Amino acid sequence: MIVARTLAALRDARRDARGPVGLVPTMGYLHQGHLSLVHAAKAECESVYASIFVNPTQFGPHEDFAKYPRDEARDLEMLESAGVSLVFIPSVEEMYPAGDATRISVDALTGVLEGARRPGHFVGVATVVAKLLNAVQPDRSYFGQKDAQQLAVIRRMVRDLLLPIEVVGCPIIRDDDGLACSSRNVYLAPEQRQAALSLSRGLRAAEHAFAAGLRDAEALRTIVRTQILAEPLAAIDYVSLADADSLAELEGSVQGPALLSLVVGFGPTHLLDNVTLVP
Ligand code: PAF
Repeated sequence: MIVARTLAALRDARRDARGPVGLVPTMGYLHQGHLSLVHAAKAECESVYASIFVNPTQFGPHEDFAKYPRDEARDLEMLESAGVSLVFIPSVEEMYPAGDATRISVDALTGVLEGARRPGHFVGVATVVAKLLNAVQPDRSYFGQKDAQQLAVIRRMVRDLLLPIEVVGCPIIRDDDGLACSSRNVYLAPEQRQAALSLSRGLRAAEHAFAAGLRDAEALRTIVRTQILAEPLAAIDYVSLADADSLAELEGSVQGPALLSLVVGFGPTHLLDNVTLVP
């Protein structure tokens, strides 16, 4: 496995890559969710590249950029055994050269949910993903459905900028107890982790009610909130039921595919989870 730490090294190696090339962009501290993206890429691409870059521009001033978990040696072992052929690990200076002044703002889709809770976050995400796609020039790039709004924003950015890249969304990977895999799960104390199981429990309860015919948007949100509010350690940021394409919050009866998503705080750690409900 090649480890490329500069654009020059990446471009050198990319010239010789057998196609199609699949890219799995990550911020490192890998878990089964990331590996599932690598496996999806391996199934469809001749060469699989990954990137590890903790992107400063997608963190707010009071967020965990400095203490975001990092373990490069472990990440490299995991990527190598998963069959990745190249890992791009650029420095901040490589990704944001001196005088860097260009940002990408996807104006639709970003004023709600995580975009409203974390102003500027999706400008940072869209900008760095555009840079990574330009640097690597993959045929396909793989992202997890856990960050559903991120996936929607990246799809729109790739479409709007006419990038010749297929964006592939992959299902959420959960631990055996139902908790969605996330690098930030490492921050949870055991009792917070236990309480965090209320997220998937709430989503599952709403999913069952939906399958049984319940269509009222507020009633579905209430089912989720009730499960989470039963946990004193959990602080709900939001529980949303939104149109799966526009991300506009739904009222009344759910008619088309809908994204039931939530963010819940456990101390300073905020966890995301979601399911898509299709009538
Ligand atoms: O989902 C992530 O890990 C990051 O937001 C991404 C897509 C790698 C951009 O920094």
